[in-house]
Amino acid sequence: MQLIATCPEETKPALVLELEALGALNIAPGYRAVGFEASDALLYELHLKLRTASRILKVIKEVPAKSPEMLRSQARRIHWNELFDARHGFMVESQGDDADKAGMAPKQIITQVRESIRDVFERAQGVAPVVDRSEPKVVVVAHLRHGRCMLSFDVSGKSLHKRGYREQGHPAPLKETLSAAILIMAGYDGSQAFMDPMCGSGTIAIEAAMMAVRKAPQIHRKKGEFHFEWLKDFDRDLWRATQDRVRAEKLEAPAAPVVASDINPTYVAMAKKSALDARVERYMTFNTGRFQDAEPPAPSGILVTNLPYGERIGSSEGDIVQLYEEVGDTLKQKFSGWQAAILAAAASPYKAIGLKPKRTISLMNGSIPCKLLLFDLYSGSRRAVQP
Ligand SMILES: C[S@@+](CC[C@H](N)C(=O)[O-])C[C@H]1O[C@@H](n2cnc3c(N)ncnc32)[C@H](O)[C@@H]1O
Repeated sequence: MQLIATCPEETKPALVLELEALGALNIAPGYRAVGFEASDALLYELHLKLRTASRILKVIKEVPAKSPEMLRSQARRIHWNELFDARHGFMVESQGDDADKAGMAPKQIITQVRESIRDVFERAQGVAPVVDRSEPKVVVVAHLRHGRCMLSFDVSGKSLHKRGYREQGHPAPLKETLSAAILIMAGYDGSQAFMDPMCGSGTIAIEAAMMAVRKAPQIHRKKGEFHFEWLKDFDRDLWRATQDRVRAEKLEAPAAPVVASDINPTYVAMAKKSALDARVERYMTFNTGRFQDAEPPAPSGILVTNLPYGERIGSSEGDIVQLYEEVGDTLKQKFSGWQAAILAAAASPYKAIGLKPKRTISLMNGSIPCKLLLFDLYSGSRRAVQP
């Protein structure tokens, strides 16, 4: 089965690592996507376990589409009625930036594919499925590129970053998939001591706790929420067996501490509540306090955090520079033997941290360009030359 997992371009390396580790075949990175092959059993397992993918598409067919007429006649050759049931509402989504080059606007692509699907159903069984844009059971994705249209099913349904544990109310929460990608790119594998000393709503620490006990992030999704469940080839017995096997892989406890703290007690309470909803609260330790006063929970480990930045957290520029300097001093003085991964807005005074990163990765946090700074901290950690 030919599949495509989508993700932001910058976090693709983390998705590739996950797909490799889980046994996907013929992995082929593309733009904001990774193509691969998998069996039904692996597809089900990936839906439960992938931490960094936004969604998975199952390729139906790639057809020539140099004009609207060509797309329509090609899409009418697909036996849609053998792929899903006429009782399920469906919708068509258009993707691809060079749609216009083929003289087709996204709306036109959608119309051609949608009407082809309805024609095929009507011809085969005299009844066509309704178009449902609010809660479709079946989503067909049409991706036009260089005169060809890749038709696929979105088999995930709700975006995979929606784990169902997030509490509302923090002004700058990270996306769950981005948090997991940062952990993977920072080298966290679930076995090291972990700390987020500026945890906010707790996303990074909760994702770390799930990795520490090998908990599949989507294991709590309800029946029918994954869209592969609505396709005709869905194998319910295999799905149940996969869920049971994945559930059984969860560890009793993490191998090392997972610590989350924040200066603001409201955010610590929020993080705790989210961790409870994610069912990992009992594997974590929560503290309230300043990072500058925190002590490492183990002689070595990995600290991953997302620094506050003025416009989203409401501090003045002077305070921020001082805070970043203090973050650097705390890392240097107390976290020798640790690794650190710090996400900071590209426009922030992150150089005031004053330590030389071993690697810097550019990332987008929503619409905010950011830098992920990776440090190896040891007693001789060098202070970088100030900008
Ligand atoms: C960008 S937010 C973190 C968001 C978090 N990653 C999430 O997903 O919700 C930064 C956090 O740092 C906290 N903070 C600011 N100064 C701090 C300090 N000196 N020590 C500890 N936490 C601090 C803020 O309360 C805020 O929650």
